[in-house]
Amino acid sequence: MKYTFYLLTDPHYLAPESWVEGEPVNGRERGDQIALKATPGIFDSFAEKFLADETADTLLITGDLVNAGAVTDHESFKKRLDALKAKGKRVWVTTATHDYSSQGGRDENIFGAVRYIEDRSEPAESVYKTELLPLYYDYGPADADSVHEESGSYSAKLCEGLRLIMINDNGNGRSFCGLFADGVKWLSDEIDKAQNAGEKVILAVHHPVIAPWEIYRHVADFEMYGGYKDLSRLMCEKGVRVIFTGHTHVQNIRKYEDENGNYFYDVSTVAMGSACGKMRKITFDTETKVLDVTSIGIETIKGLDTGGKSASEYIYGLNFIGLLENSLPYLRTDWNRFVDGVRGLLPTDQLKAHPALWKKALKSADNLKMSTPAKFGKKYNGLGKEEIKELKSMPALPEIIKVIKHIYPGNGPFGPDTVQYKVFTGVTRRVDHIQEKLHIKKLAELLPEGQTLTDVLVSFLYNDRTGDDDAITIQL
Ligand SMILES: [Fe+2]
Ligand SMILES: [Fe+2]
Repeated sequence: MKYTFYLLTDPHYLAPESWVEGEPVNGRERGDQIALKATPGIFDSFAEKFLADETADTLLITGDLVNAGAVTDHESFKKRLDALKAKGKRVWVTTATHDYSSQGGRDENIFGAVRYIEDRSEPAESVYKTELLPLYYDYGPADADSVHEESGSYSAKLCEGLRLIMINDNGNGRSFCGLFADGVKWLSDEIDKAQNAGEKVILAVHHPVIAPWEIYRHVADFEMYGGYKDLSRLMCEKGVRVIFTGHTHVQNIRKYEDENGNYFYDVSTVAMGSACGKMRKITFDTETKVLDVTSIGIETIKGLDTGGKSASEYIYGLNFIGLLENSLPYLRTDWNRFVDGVRGLLPTDQLKAHPALWKKALKSADNLKMSTPAKFGKKYNGLGKEEIKELKSMPALPEIIKVIKHIYPGNGPFGPDTVQYKVFTGVTRRVDHIQEKLHIKKLAELLPEGQTLTDVLVSFLYNDRTGDDDAITIQL
């Protein structure tokens, strides 16, 4: 028998009542890189796809349910969850740092409930951390066999032979987002209990256990699941093969393997309203115990006029790199429109104060052809003179944009056979060579231990880890 369920993460839901049109809400959209105003419609569009699949009975949502812990947003969001429940579906959630307001010295959370009006954001009624478990008790814990009260984590049966443990990793809201000692013990006991009963166990948590790229962990270790090394050891030791995560807003599948060959996967899903916006469809074969993960996007956004754009084009247009790509055509023709388009990405005040200087710098970046970096790295990229000559007609900026464009949706575009791979790694190999000779301390400190600049770059050029960030088949 096949059992199917779905997973969404990081909706960052903003209720229609929580904003009026103006710079405050638009600035927040850019700052968060989430299509906040469209989140109700985006959620409804995903919900429609989930409802259309009669074989699926459960939707998981792994935290950052709302924008910033406002009662209004939670109540409005729950109405949408209730509509799914009314149609006979189960909705199981965990909460994360965006879901509650900070209580000053009692936590390190940086969020506070707000409503966006024309010229500012004003405080709104807050949900606090201790209120989250009762608030969402009917969305997971009520169906669970065991609830860890302190953290709000719970263990529940998805289907015959398959157990899901939803870990709520609120921690202190910033520098430690994990389970405290009591929660760690509860988790270990729950895994044992399930395995002794012959069940396969899968986990879900908000923060990443394996970083999408090593550089992420290197520069932002506190953004990882608190205690990720211990949890990795535990999963390897107990043979738990997969954990579903969110928070990074990145579509990414990575494998961790310890020195004894024990392994597990971290399946990180892109945020609902960021970049491409996708949800996971997960099918478990109760006989073979194989878990099949695929990804589903939406084509349109319910109730929103996107001016003829597809859902992903519309959402991409709010991402920084989308803002840049969409504004570039105006660089030479309409400076004011260009400046307006890149607001939040480039320093608008500087662009306005020193237009000549900025125009010159941006135009030279726009004029750069791939032959220039190809020449710089020619000793390292294996390209011949003729090949480099041909690259004179290939502008470099669009190729760089393609790489950045894939950071959130995953599946980087340039595998080792492409000319772009050769050109870009040629540049970094030359820099690595200089670094090796001169031991530039500043550069070495920027890199994760044991990695070169080329290693860092390659992980963005294509999926050199599991081959596909959208799909994987895992034998549990
Ligand atoms: Fe998030
Ligand atoms: Fe988060």
